Formats: sequence, structure tokens, C-alpha cells
Amino acid sequence: MATKVNKVEELKKAKDGFDVLQDLLNYSDAGDYDAIPEDDVAQRFKWFGIYRQKPNTGHFMIRLRIPAGQLVPSQLKVIAQLCDQYARGFGDITTRQTLQFHWLTISDLRGILQALWDIGLSSQFACGDAPRNVVGCPLAGVLKDEIIDSSEHARQISDMFVEAGREFSNLPRKFKPSIGGCKLHCHQPQINCFGFYGATHDGEPGYGLLVGGGLSSTPHFGQPMRAFIKPDQVLDVARAIAIVFRDHGYRDKRTRARLKFLVADKGWQWTRDAIEHVLDKKLIHDDSLVSPPATHHDHMGIGEQKDGSRFVGIPIERGRLTAKNMADAAELAEKYGTGEKRIRLTGKQNMILLDIPAQNVEPLTRELDAAGLTPHAHRLRDMLISCTGSEFCNLAVVETKHRAGRVLRYLEEHTDLDQDIAINFTGCPNACSQYQVADIGLTGIPVVLKDKKGPDGKPLKVDGYKVLLGARLGTDPRFGEVIAKKVEGDKIHLALKNLIDHYLDERADDDESFGMWVDRSQPEYLQSLITTPVEAEDAQPLTA
Ligand code: HEM
Ligand code: SF4
Repeated sequence: MATKVNKVEELKKAKDGFDVLQDLLNYSDAGDYDAIPEDDVAQRFKWFGIYRQKPNTGHFMIRLRIPAGQLVPSQLKVIAQLCDQYARGFGDITTRQTLQFHWLTISDLRGILQALWDIGLSSQFACGDAPRNVVGCPLAGVLKDEIIDSSEHARQISDMFVEAGREFSNLPRKFKPSIGGCKLHCHQPQINCFGFYGATHDGEPGYGLLVGGGLSSTPHFGQPMRAFIKPDQVLDVARAIAIVFRDHGYRDKRTRARLKFLVADKGWQWTRDAIEHVLDKKLIHDDSLVSPPATHHDHMGIGEQKDGSRFVGIPIERGRLTAKNMADAAELAEKYGTGEKRIRLTGKQNMILLDIPAQNVEPLTRELDAAGLTPHAHRLRDMLISCTGSEFCNLAVVETKHRAGRVLRYLEEHTDLDQDIAINFTGCPNACSQYQVADIGLTGIPVVLKDKKGPDGKPLKVDGYKVLLGARLGTDPRFGEVIAKKVEGDKIHLALKNLIDHYLDERADDDESFGMWVDRSQPEYLQSLITTPVEAEDAQPLTA
């Protein structure tokens, strides 16, 4: 008896997402949005990173593929030109270290894809049921104390999946790779489909491996494979995991199709056996490789590279860059950098310029300040991220990107912080900005204001947020818990300020992090810190 599959499986069987490219180019040449078949425009375009933009009346978003956020100035200059010419002058850095931009028409797409191919970039598999952008430590190959340099591996994994084309273009669902070798494990191996993290075995550097992590509305941490992966095994193992997912992943219910569900059902031992079966050999088993220690951190600030040059972190206000910001950053990287003059995008939606000779740091910083790209911003700017939200996303419950900017600027003005606190704004439970692993996770929910009437005479419905606290990655990982169920969006800044103020007042010493303070505080107390200022009679809303 044939197994029942979900609708997207039928669509992929009728025509694979990878096979839409020539049609996409033809539709672009024809320039007639309304003539594009629904299955192509709403689904298959995703295999080339192209999403319909809300309200689905003719505009698109494109997401690029930039493994571990690795760019050079000439590429960023072209992206800036594309944003200027086609995307109303701006683009967003995403939580998977890539860039996406909006407002594209069907006629624009051929020119944009061609321009990307010309500079060695693409958008292949940036969305769709395929291996997504590879995330990795943005300072790979640069940090003095890294366990292993993962920069080449990130690129090689990405190239392997892209070149494999049809072999991995029909996975049961999206597939999220991650590899890094820094001691902070900043690439979040625990919340990706697979995460290679820097580790040693008998004094030899290589990787530990987690499989089956992922967030969305049912978050799972990746399970340790209790194996040591030698550097020369990385590609084969990454490929084997994709094969296990392709051949064993669930294709009946789309809501259970991610690799995390298979791994949770079958367990780590089955998963490791299945990987070894594909490899046709045993991995090096090591029961000490169970979980990487990790903190919230984004390698911001100015630091020394292995080769003596400096890296300069540029925190970007919730990831949004104007085309001019991009062009300025590329220009300054070129002017003050040496050698490869590399640029890296980070998972906290920031940017880092590498290869800056020590004597150039000061003039570079001065020019960055003047260009509105200061490296010396408030600590919250390093860590605050936001998903796309209702501005462009069809699935959003609330607006996020603009509010995140307003709230950040308010908190920068009204708090003085010497510690990292990760605040993640997310527009719906899909978790594109990872609210379940933030220090303060905010996820959109409508709030009814009983004392105010809308134009229809009924109680007014406005944007609001659930507030989650207490999440941590690392050796004892935990997802955030809902502490406040519905907080009015226009007053969320008051709740955040109150939490931060009380943390600063009550922390045992400078080493007690926000997360540690939350851990030893009662949930009812934390809830009151959120609700009291928001419900106060004189609470002032923060509006556009
Ligand atoms: C069923 C629908 C969706 C689900 C379950 C989903 C889930 C997720 C999750 C869990 C992430 C976490 C980041 C990571 O991979 O580490 C993510 C990333 C992201 N999502 Fe979604 N998402 C969905 C649809 C959308 C839509 C419609 C948009 C926007 C129009 C969007 C925009 C993003 C962006 C910008 C990222 C950043 C990472 C990237 O470059 O891939 N997502 N998504
Ligand atoms: S979290 Fe929801 S609202 Fe935000 S981009 Fe993802 S799907 Fe859209």
C-alpha cells in the first residue's frame, strides 16, 4: 500500500524545486507575474531563495547563500548595488549569516541571479526542502584560541550540497547545517539539524557532532552522536546525515518532517548507526563528546587575529542595512584592510571586518563612526535580533523589525549595561529569530485592550508579545519558559527596562549573568517585573 504523503511532497514529485530555475528565468523575461503557475511562484521559487512578499501581489524577497557569512568587499559592493537598484535601498542580515532583500519584481529576478552568479554567489537552496545556508563561527581561521579552523569546512559543506543539485533537492523538509571551531561554540550547533563543534580526541583537533536540533513551534536540542569526527571525515559525515534524512525522514505530515522528529523518535544510537551504515564504516566513538559548553556571544568588539591583524565588529541595529551602509562597509574594508580584506556576517545579524592592520584601527573606527556604523555601540545592539515580521512575512502575527529598532534605541538611551543580554523579537511561533534560546525571548501574539474600542466598536486588538526567560545553550541546555503570556507591544520597552534595571541592582557581582540571575529568581517575581510597569496608570507607549 502506498504511504500517504503531504501536499508539498506531491508538488515536488510533479516537478522538483531544483528544476524550476529555467522556468523562473523565462517567467522573469516574460515579466508577467499573474501568468506564473501558483505551485512555482508560491513553492518552487523557494529552492532558489525566492519568497513571495506579503500581500502576494507581485513582489518577492530573495535570500542569498553565504556560507558562514564569508564575503569579500567586491561581493558586498555588488549586493549594495542590487539593493539600491531593485530593493528600495535596504537589506537584512539574517540569523543564518546571510543577506536577504525585498521589493523585487518578477522582471528583476534574472538580472539579480546573474549578478550573483557573476560574483561567485547564489541563492540556491537558501529556502525550500534542501540544505540551507551553512552557519559557522564568523571568526573561523582568525581567532587565536580556536579549537579548529572551520572556515574551509563551512565552504566545502556548502559547495558539496549545492553541487549535488538533485541529489539533495528533495529532502522531507528544510535541512540546517552548522559547523564551527571556536571555544564559544557561537554557531549554535545544538539548534541546527546537524552541528559539528570544535573538540579534541587524544590531543588531536577535530569535531564533536550533534544531530536533530531545530526550533520552530516544537523546539528540540540536537542529540550528541558521541563520536569524534576527524577533519578529513567532515564532508562524508555531513553527506551521510543528509542521506539518512532524505531516505528515512517523514514525508506524511509536514509538521513532523524535520530531521529533529526522526532523531527524537529513533534516538541517538539509531542515528549514529544509520550514519555509519551510509559511510560503511565506524566512526571514532567517544562518550565524552556529549555537549559543547556555550554562551550567548557574538564576537563583537575589536580583537587580535592569529596573524597579528585586527578584526573589528560592527553591531547592526536588528540586522537592517541600507545599501549605503553596505557600500560604505565594503569601501572601508577595502581602504583599511590588508591581504584578503575579508568581511563576515554573524548569526546575531551583525558584521565583522577582518584583516585590519593595528595602525589602521583608529582611522577605520573614525570613518565607521561617521558612516553610522560604529563598532562602539551599547551592549544590547550586539545581541538584539529580530525576524522579518508582518512588514513582509505572510505568516507573521505581529510587526517586529521596526518595533525592535525603536525598543533598542529606547533601551540604549535608558540603560547602562556591561554584560551581554540577548533579546530576540519574533513575529510568530515559527521562531525565525530563535526566541526559545534568547535571554529574553519575545514572540508575537495579539492582545485585546478591554478598555479601548476599535473602529468597529469592539475592544481594540493590538500587537503584543509573550515573554520567555531562562533559556541557555551549552552543557545543560534549556529552552525559555513563558513568564508573561500577553504584553502590549507598545509598552514592551517598559518591561524590558525594568528587567534589566532589576538584574543590574540585584546581581550578586559583575560575573553574574542575566541568565544566572533569572535562574535564582522566582517566576512570579519575574512576571511582576514585566507586568507592573506595563500596567501602571502612567505607562507611556513607545510608538513610531
Ligand atoms: C513554516 C514556515 C516557517 C518556519 C517553520 C520557519 C522557521 C524558521 C526557523 C526555526 C528559523 C531559525 C533560524 C535558524 O535556522 O537558525 C528560521 C530562519 C529564518 N526564517 Fe523562517 N520559518 C518559516 C517561514 C519564514 C518566512 C515566511 C520568512 C520570511 C518571509 C522567514 C524568514 C526567516 C529568516 C529571515 C530566517 C533567518 C535565517 C535564514 O537565513 O535562513 N521564515 N525560520
Ligand atoms: S518568525 Fe514568523 S513572522 Fe517571523 S519571519 Fe518567521 S514566519 Fe515570519
